[in-house]
Amino acid sequence: MSSPDGIKQRGYWGSGLGFVLAVVGSAIGLGNIWRFPTEAGQSGGGAFVLVYIIATFLIGVPVMMAELAVGRRTQRNPVGAYRSLAPGSGWGLAGGFAVFTGLIILSYYSVVAGWTLKYTWIAFSGSLHGATPEAISATFNNFIQDPGPVLGCHLLFMLITIRIVMGGIQHGIERAAKILMPVLFVLLLLLVVRSLTLPGAAEGLSFYLKPDFGMLDVKVILKAVSHAFFSLSLGMGAIITFGSYLSPKQNLVSSAVWVSCADFLIAFLAGLAIFPAIFSVPGLEPDAGPGLIFVVLPNIFNAIPLGHLFGAAFFILLAIAALTSAISMLEVVVAFTIDELGWNRRRSAIAVGSVIFLLGIPSALGNGAVPLFAGTLDFVNEYFGGMGLVLGALLVSLFVGWKWGTGNAVEELERGRGTFRLGQVWGFLIRFVCPLAILTILFQLLRG
Ligand code: PFF
Repeated sequence: MSSPDGIKQRGYWGSGLGFVLAVVGSAIGLGNIWRFPTEAGQSGGGAFVLVYIIATFLIGVPVMMAELAVGRRTQRNPVGAYRSLAPGSGWGLAGGFAVFTGLIILSYYSVVAGWTLKYTWIAFSGSLHGATPEAISATFNNFIQDPGPVLGCHLLFMLITIRIVMGGIQHGIERAAKILMPVLFVLLLLLVVRSLTLPGAAEGLSFYLKPDFGMLDVKVILKAVSHAFFSLSLGMGAIITFGSYLSPKQNLVSSAVWVSCADFLIAFLAGLAIFPAIFSVPGLEPDAGPGLIFVVLPNIFNAIPLGHLFGAAFFILLAIAALTSAISMLEVVVAFTIDELGWNRRRSAIAVGSVIFLLGIPSALGNGAVPLFAGTLDFVNEYFGGMGLVLGALLVSLFVGWKWGTGNAVEELERGRGTFRLGQVWGFLIRFVCPLAILTILFQLLRG
Protein backbone atom coordinates (compact mmCIF):
# COMPACT_ATOMS: atom_id res chain seq x y z
CA MET A 1 0.00 0.00 0.00
CA SER A 2 2.92 2.36 0.43
CA SER A 3 3.91 2.77 -3.24
CA PRO A 4 1.66 4.34 -5.89
CA ASP A 5 1.80 1.03 -7.72
CA GLY A 6 0.62 -0.70 -4.57
CA ILE A 7 -2.39 1.60 -4.44
CA LYS A 8 -3.10 0.91 -8.09
CA GLN A 9 -2.97 -2.83 -7.55
CA ARG A 10 -5.22 -2.72 -4.50
CA GLY A 11 -7.67 -0.06 -5.70
CA TYR A 12 -10.24 2.16 -3.98
CA TRP A 13 -13.99 2.48 -4.08
CA GLY A 14 -15.24 5.12 -6.52
CA SER A 15 -18.09 6.23 -4.26
CA GLY A 16 -19.65 5.62 -0.88
CA LEU A 17 -22.74 4.15 -2.48
CA GLY A 18 -20.60 1.81 -4.56
CA PHE A 19 -18.97 0.58 -1.37
CA VAL A 20 -22.24 -0.02 0.45
CA LEU A 21 -23.68 -1.82 -2.55
CA ALA A 22 -20.59 -3.96 -2.85
CA VAL A 23 -20.75 -4.96 0.81
CA VAL A 24 -24.46 -5.64 0.43
CA GLY A 25 -23.54 -7.71 -2.62
CA SER A 26 -21.06 -9.67 -0.55
CA ALA A 27 -23.53 -10.23 2.25
CA ILE A 28 -26.48 -11.20 0.08
CA GLY A 29 -25.88 -14.46 -1.69
CA LEU A 30 -26.45 -18.18 -1.52
CA GLY A 31 -26.40 -17.69 2.23
CA ASN A 32 -29.71 -15.85 2.13
CA ILE A 33 -31.48 -17.80 -0.55
CA TRP A 34 -30.00 -21.30 -0.47
CA ARG A 35 -28.37 -21.77 2.94
CA PHE A 36 -30.88 -19.90 5.12
CA PRO A 37 -33.99 -21.86 4.04
CA THR A 38 -32.01 -25.10 4.01
CA GLU A 39 -30.73 -24.64 7.56
CA ALA A 40 -33.98 -23.20 8.91
CA GLY A 41 -35.89 -26.07 7.29
CA GLN A 42 -33.59 -28.65 8.88
CA SER A 43 -33.61 -26.97 12.27
CA GLY A 44 -37.33 -26.67 12.75
CA GLY A 45 -38.17 -23.28 11.25
CA GLY A 46 -39.27 -20.43 13.53
CA ALA A 47 -36.98 -21.13 16.51
CA PHE A 48 -33.91 -21.13 14.24
CA VAL A 49 -35.15 -17.94 12.58
CA LEU A 50 -35.56 -16.19 15.92
CA VAL A 51 -32.02 -17.00 17.09
CA TYR A 52 -30.69 -15.98 13.68
CA ILE A 53 -32.39 -12.58 13.97
CA ILE A 54 -31.09 -11.96 17.50
CA ALA A 55 -27.58 -13.04 16.49
CA THR A 56 -27.62 -10.83 13.41
CA PHE A 57 -28.39 -7.65 15.30
CA LEU A 58 -26.79 -8.28 18.69
CA ILE A 59 -23.55 -9.93 17.53
CA GLY A 60 -23.35 -9.58 13.75
CA VAL A 61 -23.74 -5.81 13.51
CA PRO A 62 -21.10 -5.02 16.18
CA VAL A 63 -18.66 -7.51 14.62
CA MET A 64 -19.22 -5.93 11.22
CA MET A 65 -18.34 -2.52 12.65
CA ALA A 66 -15.22 -4.05 14.18
CA GLU A 67 -14.12 -5.58 10.87
CA LEU A 68 -14.76 -2.33 8.99
CA ALA A 69 -12.75 -0.35 11.54
CA VAL A 70 -9.80 -2.76 11.37
CA GLY A 71 -9.89 -2.74 7.57
CA ARG A 72 -10.04 1.01 7.12
CA ARG A 73 -7.50 1.79 9.82
CA THR A 74 -4.92 -0.58 8.37
CA GLN A 75 -5.82 -0.47 4.65
CA ARG A 76 -4.72 -4.06 4.52
CA ASN A 77 -5.81 -7.63 3.91
CA PRO A 78 -6.68 -9.61 7.07
CA VAL A 79 -3.16 -10.93 7.69
CA GLY A 80 -1.51 -7.53 7.19
CA ALA A 81 -4.27 -5.87 9.20
CA TYR A 82 -3.82 -7.98 12.34
CA ARG A 83 -0.06 -7.75 11.99
CA SER A 84 0.06 -4.00 11.63
CA LEU A 85 -2.19 -3.37 14.65
CA ALA A 86 -0.33 -5.86 16.84
CA PRO A 87 3.18 -6.21 15.46
CA GLY A 88 5.21 -9.21 16.55
CA SER A 89 2.31 -10.72 18.48
CA GLY A 90 1.24 -13.76 16.53
CA TRP A 91 -2.17 -12.23 15.77
CA GLY A 92 -1.27 -12.44 12.07
CA LEU A 93 -2.19 -16.10 12.40
CA ALA A 94 -5.79 -15.07 13.05
CA GLY A 95 -5.69 -13.27 9.70
CA GLY A 96 -4.18 -16.34 8.08
CA PHE A 97 -6.98 -18.46 9.51
CA ALA A 98 -9.51 -16.03 8.01
CA VAL A 99 -7.91 -16.15 4.56
CA PHE A 100 -7.74 -19.95 4.67
CA THR A 101 -11.39 -20.20 5.73
CA GLY A 102 -12.34 -17.96 2.81
CA LEU A 103 -10.43 -20.14 0.38
CA ILE A 104 -12.25 -23.26 1.52
CA ILE A 105 -15.69 -21.66 1.71
CA LEU A 106 -15.43 -20.34 -1.83
CA SER A 107 -14.41 -23.81 -3.07
CA TYR A 108 -17.81 -25.31 -2.21
CA TYR A 109 -19.77 -22.10 -2.59
CA SER A 110 -18.76 -22.10 -6.24
CA VAL A 111 -20.06 -25.66 -6.63
CA VAL A 112 -23.56 -24.70 -5.42
CA ALA A 113 -23.39 -21.51 -7.48
CA GLY A 114 -22.64 -23.77 -10.44
CA TRP A 115 -25.88 -25.65 -9.72
CA THR A 116 -27.74 -22.35 -9.97
CA LEU A 117 -26.18 -21.70 -13.39
CA LYS A 118 -27.36 -25.10 -14.55
CA TYR A 119 -30.84 -24.49 -13.14
CA THR A 120 -31.05 -21.11 -14.81
CA TRP A 121 -30.47 -22.95 -18.06
CA ILE A 122 -32.92 -25.73 -17.20
CA ALA A 123 -35.62 -23.20 -16.34
CA PHE A 124 -35.06 -21.15 -19.49
CA SER A 125 -35.12 -24.25 -21.66
CA GLY A 126 -38.47 -25.25 -20.13
CA SER A 127 -37.33 -28.87 -19.87
CA LEU A 128 -38.96 -29.30 -16.43
CA HIS A 129 -42.14 -27.57 -17.50
CA GLY A 130 -45.02 -29.89 -16.59
CA ALA A 131 -42.67 -32.58 -15.20
CA THR A 132 -43.86 -34.77 -12.30
CA PRO A 133 -42.31 -34.30 -8.83
CA GLU A 134 -40.48 -37.62 -9.31
CA ALA A 135 -39.03 -36.46 -12.61
CA ILE A 136 -37.94 -33.19 -11.04
CA SER A 137 -36.13 -34.98 -8.20
CA ALA A 138 -34.58 -37.39 -10.68
CA THR A 139 -33.30 -34.48 -12.77
CA PHE A 140 -31.52 -33.00 -9.76
CA ASN A 141 -30.09 -36.35 -8.63
CA ASN A 142 -28.89 -37.21 -12.11
CA PHE A 143 -27.30 -33.82 -12.50
CA ILE A 144 -25.32 -33.84 -9.25
CA GLN A 145 -24.14 -37.40 -9.91
CA ASP A 146 -22.80 -36.61 -13.36
CA PRO A 147 -19.17 -35.42 -13.07
CA GLY A 148 -18.96 -33.54 -16.39
CA PRO A 149 -21.80 -31.03 -15.90
CA VAL A 150 -21.15 -30.35 -12.20
CA LEU A 151 -17.46 -29.72 -12.83
CA GLY A 152 -18.27 -27.67 -15.93
CA CYS A 153 -20.68 -25.43 -13.98
CA HIS A 154 -18.22 -25.06 -11.09
CA LEU A 155 -15.50 -24.09 -13.58
CA LEU A 156 -17.73 -21.63 -15.41
CA PHE A 157 -18.73 -19.92 -12.18
CA MET A 158 -15.09 -19.62 -11.03
CA LEU A 159 -14.07 -18.22 -14.42
CA ILE A 160 -16.71 -15.48 -14.23
CA THR A 161 -15.65 -14.66 -10.65
CA ILE A 162 -11.97 -14.52 -11.62
CA ARG A 163 -12.75 -12.28 -14.60
CA ILE A 164 -14.57 -9.74 -12.44
CA VAL A 165 -11.96 -9.73 -9.66
CA MET A 166 -9.23 -9.23 -12.30
CA GLY A 167 -11.04 -6.01 -13.24
CA GLY A 168 -10.28 -4.59 -9.81
CA ILE A 169 -12.25 -2.71 -7.25
CA GLN A 170 -13.94 0.10 -9.13
CA HIS A 171 -14.34 -1.40 -12.54
CA GLY A 172 -15.14 -4.93 -11.57
CA ILE A 173 -16.72 -5.31 -8.18
CA GLU A 174 -18.35 -1.92 -7.81
CA ARG A 175 -19.93 -1.91 -11.24
CA ALA A 176 -21.22 -5.44 -10.89
CA ALA A 177 -22.81 -4.66 -7.53
CA LYS A 178 -24.40 -1.42 -8.69
CA ILE A 179 -26.16 -3.04 -11.60
CA LEU A 180 -27.00 -6.42 -10.16
CA MET A 181 -28.27 -5.76 -6.65
CA PRO A 182 -31.43 -3.78 -7.51
CA VAL A 183 -32.40 -6.39 -10.10
CA LEU A 184 -32.14 -9.07 -7.47
CA PHE A 185 -34.41 -7.26 -5.06
CA VAL A 186 -37.17 -6.72 -7.60
CA LEU A 187 -37.13 -10.35 -8.74
CA LEU A 188 -37.34 -11.57 -5.16
CA LEU A 189 -40.33 -9.35 -4.42
CA LEU A 190 -42.16 -10.85 -7.40
CA LEU A 191 -41.51 -14.32 -6.07
CA VAL A 192 -42.72 -13.46 -2.58
CA VAL A 193 -45.99 -12.07 -3.90
CA ARG A 194 -46.56 -15.20 -5.97
CA SER A 195 -45.66 -17.56 -3.15
CA LEU A 196 -47.84 -15.86 -0.55
CA THR A 197 -50.86 -16.16 -2.80
CA LEU A 198 -50.51 -19.92 -3.27
CA PRO A 199 -53.07 -22.18 -1.57
CA GLY A 200 -51.70 -23.58 1.69
CA ALA A 201 -49.31 -20.65 2.20
CA ALA A 202 -50.48 -20.15 5.80
CA GLU A 203 -49.06 -23.46 6.99
CA GLY A 204 -45.65 -22.56 5.60
CA LEU A 205 -45.82 -19.13 7.17
CA SER A 206 -46.51 -20.63 10.56
CA PHE A 207 -43.60 -23.12 10.22
CA TYR A 208 -41.36 -20.22 9.26
CA LEU A 209 -42.47 -17.60 11.74
CA LYS A 210 -43.88 -19.39 14.78
CA PRO A 211 -40.99 -20.51 16.98
CA ASP A 212 -41.26 -23.99 18.44
CA PHE A 213 -38.93 -23.63 21.42
CA GLY A 214 -38.82 -27.38 21.86
CA MET A 215 -36.57 -27.37 18.78
CA LEU A 216 -33.91 -25.20 20.42
CA ASP A 217 -30.79 -27.05 21.48
CA VAL A 218 -27.17 -25.93 21.49
CA LYS A 219 -26.59 -27.31 17.98
CA VAL A 220 -29.49 -25.34 16.55
CA ILE A 221 -28.28 -22.22 18.36
CA LEU A 222 -24.76 -22.69 16.99
CA LYS A 223 -26.13 -23.22 13.50
CA ALA A 224 -28.26 -20.09 13.72
CA VAL A 225 -25.44 -17.93 15.12
CA SER A 226 -22.91 -19.21 12.61
CA HIS A 227 -25.40 -18.69 9.84
CA ALA A 228 -25.73 -15.04 10.90
CA PHE A 229 -21.96 -14.69 10.38
CA PHE A 230 -22.08 -16.55 7.08
CA SER A 231 -24.89 -14.38 5.83
CA LEU A 232 -23.19 -11.12 6.86
CA SER A 233 -19.85 -12.28 5.36
CA LEU A 234 -18.19 -12.05 8.78
CA GLY A 235 -15.39 -14.08 10.31
CA MET A 236 -13.22 -14.60 7.25
CA GLY A 237 -11.92 -11.12 6.63
CA ALA A 238 -14.15 -10.16 3.70
CA ILE A 239 -15.42 -7.10 5.52
CA ILE A 240 -11.91 -6.22 6.74
CA THR A 241 -10.78 -6.40 3.13
CA PHE A 242 -13.66 -4.31 1.77
CA GLY A 243 -13.12 -1.80 4.59
CA SER A 244 -9.49 -1.52 3.54
CA TYR A 245 -10.56 0.08 0.25
CA LEU A 246 -12.55 2.78 2.03
CA SER A 247 -11.95 6.48 2.24
CA PRO A 248 -12.02 8.24 5.65
CA LYS A 249 -15.25 9.98 4.64
CA GLN A 250 -17.38 6.85 4.84
CA ASN A 251 -19.65 6.44 7.86
CA LEU A 252 -18.80 2.92 9.05
CA VAL A 253 -21.48 2.69 11.72
CA SER A 254 -24.41 3.46 9.49
CA SER A 255 -22.90 1.35 6.68
CA ALA A 256 -22.83 -1.68 8.99
CA VAL A 257 -26.42 -1.09 10.09
CA TRP A 258 -27.73 -0.61 6.55
CA VAL A 259 -25.89 -3.59 5.17
CA SER A 260 -27.14 -5.85 7.96
CA CYS A 261 -30.72 -4.68 7.54
CA ALA A 262 -30.57 -5.23 3.79
CA ASP A 263 -29.06 -8.69 4.27
CA PHE A 264 -31.69 -9.63 6.82
CA LEU A 265 -34.46 -8.30 4.60
CA ILE A 266 -33.38 -10.45 1.66
CA ALA A 267 -33.07 -13.59 3.80
CA PHE A 268 -36.44 -12.89 5.35
CA LEU A 269 -38.01 -12.38 1.92
CA ALA A 270 -36.34 -15.54 0.65
CA GLY A 271 -37.96 -17.43 3.52
CA LEU A 272 -41.29 -15.80 2.70
CA ALA A 273 -40.89 -16.95 -0.90
CA ILE A 274 -39.79 -20.48 -0.12
CA PHE A 275 -41.64 -21.82 2.96
CA PRO A 276 -45.21 -21.04 1.90
CA ALA A 277 -44.35 -22.55 -1.47
CA ILE A 278 -43.01 -25.76 0.08
CA PHE A 279 -46.18 -26.26 2.06
CA SER A 280 -48.41 -25.61 -0.90
CA VAL A 281 -47.39 -28.85 -2.62
CA PRO A 282 -48.28 -32.11 -0.82
CA GLY A 283 -45.33 -34.40 -0.24
CA LEU A 284 -42.64 -31.72 -0.13
CA GLU A 285 -40.69 -31.32 3.11
CA PRO A 286 -38.69 -28.37 4.45
CA ASP A 287 -35.81 -30.51 5.72
CA ALA A 288 -34.63 -31.81 2.35
CA GLY A 289 -31.03 -30.54 2.81
CA PRO A 290 -28.75 -28.86 0.24
CA GLY A 291 -30.95 -29.90 -2.66
CA LEU A 292 -34.02 -28.24 -1.10
CA ILE A 293 -34.53 -25.30 -3.37
CA PHE A 294 -33.45 -27.20 -6.48
CA VAL A 295 -35.92 -30.00 -5.89
CA VAL A 296 -38.77 -28.06 -4.35
CA LEU A 297 -38.92 -24.92 -6.42
CA PRO A 298 -39.34 -26.43 -9.88
CA ASN A 299 -42.37 -28.28 -8.48
CA ILE A 300 -43.85 -25.02 -7.29
CA PHE A 301 -43.10 -23.22 -10.51
CA ASN A 302 -44.90 -25.97 -12.35
CA ALA A 303 -47.94 -25.54 -10.15
CA ILE A 304 -48.47 -21.90 -11.07
CA PRO A 305 -49.25 -20.16 -14.35
CA LEU A 306 -46.12 -18.95 -16.13
CA GLY A 307 -44.17 -20.82 -13.47
CA HIS A 308 -41.23 -21.56 -15.69
CA LEU A 309 -40.67 -17.83 -16.12
CA PHE A 310 -40.71 -17.38 -12.35
CA GLY A 311 -38.31 -20.28 -12.15
CA ALA A 312 -35.91 -18.76 -14.62
CA ALA A 313 -36.10 -15.43 -12.81
CA PHE A 314 -35.42 -17.08 -9.48
CA PHE A 315 -32.34 -18.97 -10.57
CA ILE A 316 -30.89 -15.97 -12.37
CA LEU A 317 -31.37 -14.05 -9.18
CA LEU A 318 -29.58 -16.71 -7.22
CA ALA A 319 -26.66 -16.89 -9.63
CA ILE A 320 -26.29 -13.11 -9.52
CA ALA A 321 -26.39 -13.05 -5.75
CA ALA A 322 -23.83 -15.85 -5.57
CA LEU A 323 -21.52 -14.03 -7.95
CA THR A 324 -21.35 -10.81 -5.95
CA SER A 325 -20.59 -12.83 -2.80
CA ALA A 326 -18.00 -15.04 -4.48
CA ILE A 327 -16.27 -11.92 -5.76
CA SER A 328 -15.80 -10.75 -2.17
CA MET A 329 -14.43 -14.10 -1.05
CA LEU A 330 -11.90 -14.28 -3.88
CA GLU A 331 -10.97 -10.66 -3.17
CA VAL A 332 -9.89 -11.58 0.39
CA VAL A 333 -7.28 -14.01 -0.87
CA VAL A 334 -6.28 -11.82 -3.82
CA ALA A 335 -5.76 -8.82 -1.50
CA PHE A 336 -3.56 -11.06 0.66
CA THR A 337 -1.35 -12.07 -2.29
CA ILE A 338 -1.16 -8.49 -3.58
CA ASP A 339 -0.24 -6.97 -0.20
CA GLU A 340 1.89 -9.70 1.30
CA LEU A 341 3.41 -11.45 -1.69
CA GLY A 342 3.61 -8.49 -4.06
CA TRP A 343 1.71 -10.20 -6.90
CA ASN A 344 -0.20 -8.18 -9.42
CA ARG A 345 -3.99 -8.35 -9.42
CA ARG A 346 -4.35 -10.24 -12.67
CA ARG A 347 -1.89 -12.97 -11.83
CA SER A 348 -3.26 -13.28 -8.35
CA ALA A 349 -6.90 -13.61 -9.43
CA ILE A 350 -6.00 -16.31 -11.95
CA ALA A 351 -3.68 -18.27 -9.66
CA VAL A 352 -5.88 -18.13 -6.56
CA GLY A 353 -9.05 -18.76 -8.54
CA SER A 354 -7.49 -21.86 -10.11
CA VAL A 355 -6.48 -23.25 -6.73
CA ILE A 356 -10.00 -22.69 -5.44
CA PHE A 357 -11.46 -24.46 -8.45
CA LEU A 358 -9.23 -27.48 -7.73
CA LEU A 359 -10.07 -27.46 -4.02
CA GLY A 360 -13.76 -27.49 -4.92
CA ILE A 361 -13.56 -30.68 -6.98
CA PRO A 362 -14.25 -33.05 -4.04
CA SER A 363 -17.32 -30.97 -3.08
CA ALA A 364 -18.48 -31.04 -6.69
CA LEU A 365 -18.03 -34.78 -7.06
CA GLY A 366 -19.06 -35.83 -3.56
CA ASN A 367 -22.78 -35.91 -4.23
CA GLY A 368 -22.95 -39.29 -5.89
CA ALA A 369 -20.37 -39.01 -8.67
CA VAL A 370 -17.30 -40.27 -6.78
CA PRO A 371 -17.97 -42.32 -3.60
CA LEU A 372 -14.57 -41.41 -2.14
CA PHE A 373 -15.67 -37.77 -1.87
CA ALA A 374 -19.13 -38.50 -0.47
CA GLY A 375 -20.36 -35.88 1.99
CA THR A 376 -17.53 -33.39 1.35
CA LEU A 377 -19.86 -30.49 0.61
CA ASP A 378 -21.90 -30.99 3.77
CA PHE A 379 -18.73 -31.37 5.79
CA VAL A 380 -17.03 -28.20 4.58
CA ASN A 381 -20.30 -26.29 4.78
CA GLU A 382 -20.72 -27.32 8.41
CA TYR A 383 -17.12 -26.98 9.59
CA PHE A 384 -15.80 -24.06 7.55
CA GLY A 385 -19.03 -22.22 6.69
CA GLY A 386 -20.23 -22.80 10.27
CA MET A 387 -17.54 -23.39 12.87
CA GLY A 388 -14.73 -21.66 10.93
CA LEU A 389 -16.66 -18.39 10.76
CA VAL A 390 -17.69 -18.59 14.41
CA LEU A 391 -14.04 -18.94 15.42
CA GLY A 392 -13.05 -16.17 13.00
CA ALA A 393 -15.66 -13.83 14.48
CA LEU A 394 -14.57 -14.78 18.02
CA LEU A 395 -10.99 -13.85 17.13
CA VAL A 396 -12.05 -10.51 15.64
CA SER A 397 -14.06 -9.55 18.70
CA LEU A 398 -11.30 -10.64 21.11
CA PHE A 399 -8.71 -8.79 19.05
CA VAL A 400 -10.65 -5.54 18.79
CA GLY A 401 -12.05 -5.73 22.31
CA TRP A 402 -8.93 -6.73 24.19
CA LYS A 403 -5.82 -6.24 22.03
CA TRP A 404 -6.26 -3.30 19.69
CA GLY A 405 -8.74 -1.76 22.13
CA THR A 406 -12.26 -0.46 21.73
CA GLY A 407 -11.00 3.10 22.31
CA ASN A 408 -8.89 2.92 19.14
CA ALA A 409 -11.70 1.26 17.27
CA VAL A 410 -14.26 3.87 18.34
CA GLU A 411 -11.85 6.57 17.17
CA GLU A 412 -11.80 4.90 13.75
CA LEU A 413 -15.57 4.47 13.76
CA GLU A 414 -15.98 8.18 14.50
CA ARG A 415 -13.94 9.24 11.47
CA GLY A 416 -16.39 10.30 8.78
CA ARG A 417 -19.36 10.69 11.12
CA GLY A 418 -18.54 12.52 14.37
CA THR A 419 -19.37 11.27 17.84
CA PHE A 420 -20.52 7.66 18.04
CA ARG A 421 -22.98 8.00 20.91
CA LEU A 422 -23.51 4.30 21.30
CA GLY A 423 -19.74 3.74 21.29
CA GLN A 424 -19.76 2.43 24.86
CA VAL A 425 -22.61 0.06 24.19
CA TRP A 426 -20.78 -1.15 21.12
CA GLY A 427 -17.59 -1.60 23.15
CA PHE A 428 -19.50 -3.66 25.72
CA LEU A 429 -20.98 -5.85 23.01
CA ILE A 430 -17.58 -6.45 21.39
CA ARG A 431 -15.66 -7.02 24.63
CA PHE A 432 -18.19 -9.12 26.51
CA VAL A 433 -21.40 -10.08 24.75
CA CYS A 434 -19.95 -11.35 21.45
CA PRO A 435 -17.06 -13.42 22.85
CA LEU A 436 -19.04 -14.75 25.81
CA ALA A 437 -22.00 -15.74 23.67
CA ILE A 438 -19.73 -17.60 21.25
CA LEU A 439 -17.61 -19.20 23.98
CA THR A 440 -20.69 -20.34 25.88
CA ILE A 441 -22.10 -22.02 22.81
CA LEU A 442 -18.78 -23.72 22.02
CA PHE A 443 -18.39 -24.85 25.62
CA GLN A 444 -21.90 -26.31 25.71
CA LEU A 445 -21.22 -28.05 22.42
CA LEU A 446 -18.04 -29.66 23.74
CA ARG A 447 -19.86 -30.87 26.84
CA GLY A 448 -22.21 -32.65 24.44
N1 PFF B 1 -22.53 -13.72 2.81
C1 PFF B 1 -22.48 -14.59 1.69
C2 PFF B 1 -23.83 -15.22 1.49
O1 PFF B 1 -24.72 -15.00 2.32
O2 PFF B 1 -24.00 -15.93 0.51
C3 PFF B 1 -21.42 -15.65 1.80
C4 PFF B 1 -20.11 -15.13 2.27
C5 PFF B 1 -19.43 -14.16 1.52
C6 PFF B 1 -19.57 -15.59 3.45
C7 PFF B 1 -18.23 -13.64 1.96
C8 PFF B 1 -18.38 -15.11 3.90
C9 PFF B 1 -17.73 -14.12 3.15
F1 PFF B 1 -16.63 -13.63 3.60
